[in-house]
Amino acid sequence: MTGSVPLPNNRRPAGCPFRPDAALERLRDDPELPRVPMSNPQLGSFDAVLVTRADDARQVLADSRYEAGFAFDRTGPRTVMNQPGILLNYDGEEHARYRRMLTGAFTVKRVRALTPAITRIVNAQLDVLEQAGPGADLIETFAGPVPLLVICELLGVPLEDRDDIQRRSATGTDVANTLDDQLENFAAMAAYMGDLVRRARRAPGDDILGDLIRRHGDVLDDDELIGMGNSILVAGHETVSSMIGLSTLALLRDAEQLAILRDDETAAPDAVEELLRLLSVAPPLIRQAATDLELGGQTVKAGERVALSTLAANHGTDLVPDAPDRLDVRRKPVPHLAFGYGPHQCIGQQLARLELQIALPALLRRLPGLRLAADFASIAYREDALVFGVTGLPVAW
Ligand code: HEM
Repeated sequence: MTGSVPLPNNRRPAGCPFRPDAALERLRDDPELPRVPMSNPQLGSFDAVLVTRADDARQVLADSRYEAGFAFDRTGPRTVMNQPGILLNYDGEEHARYRRMLTGAFTVKRVRALTPAITRIVNAQLDVLEQAGPGADLIETFAGPVPLLVICELLGVPLEDRDDIQRRSATGTDVANTLDDQLENFAAMAAYMGDLVRRARRAPGDDILGDLIRRHGDVLDDDELIGMGNSILVAGHETVSSMIGLSTLALLRDAEQLAILRDDETAAPDAVEELLRLLSVAPPLIRQAATDLELGGQTVKAGERVALSTLAANHGTDLVPDAPDRLDVRRKPVPHLAFGYGPHQCIGQQLARLELQIALPALLRRLPGLRLAADFASIAYREDALVFGVTGLPVAW
């Protein structure tokens, strides 16, 4: 274990996972930009300028002089940060070149065409959940499997490998693991994706890997394809799975809001936007200043790191003037930062939205008597994970 420091997006009040803790709130109101200790297995311990206001966050994320790929060393031991093909390891033109190769798979039109496949996966998993009843762990039986099955289908990953994939991505996103654990885990993930890439080179399928190979297989080497494949695999299911679990918990705590999403066929898009904003499950976004830069009237020095808390920014009254900590599924969507902003803004956001818009109402309609099967106070949270969420969610119906 490293001496882990709570990540800015995981600092929530004890027993209340739906808003930033008081210390984070105070920092947002403070005109000074504080330096806070951070730690993660790849970067070790470091201090970062903590950004908690939406305007400051947008300014940083739009400016590529705040580099995302600052630690990328393609000759170093393979970690998430040294792996070619992972979009967050690149900046500027190089980033745009890799990103363009992937955007085709995630356009609104391509994603909308997945509606029948996602609906089929959701309904089949609801059958499994119902049969496991009258009670089950929602994460294990629904929130975990649905996004994993969707992303496996999209990438052409064999379904029988899904338990291994789930275990490895949980290890990969646990900041309490040592660097050795991470290196070993990362090597296993790279070897696995390497096999899929070589198989897809021989017979490219009708999926993202096959598509990348058909269109860009001459310029992308296997290492880059491994990075692209694994980043989509991990980013594409941990986040959505956490959102399904935490959203269900938030809705079960508020019968009125739950009823709106369950009973009003038109409610899902705005409700999902509100849940994305309120819950802000993504890790703090880290950048490093390439040169001295001005932010909020202060100087961020060349080489200093910046950590952006999307949770704090998404709960500010500058973004949401009226009761930002309250779940209001009818709220007119605000330009929240749950998917980031600027050139690295989440490439899978349309897919994530669609999965949530299908999965959450379907769950509430299939099991109208859904309720927590444990005390709210006993629910445990993934405080050491990059992606915030519940560790399990006992439900009954
Ligand atoms: C609710 C679900 C999701 C949330 C909250 C989320 C959040 C984010 C955020 C905040 C970023 C920006 C990171 C930064 O700037 O440092 C990001 C980037 C990214 N996301 Fe997502 N994401 C979600 C779902 C997905 C899905 C479904 C996929 C793929 C299938 C995906 C793939 C990616 C990739 C590849 C990037 C890097 C983009 C780049 O660097 O250009 N994400 N995501």
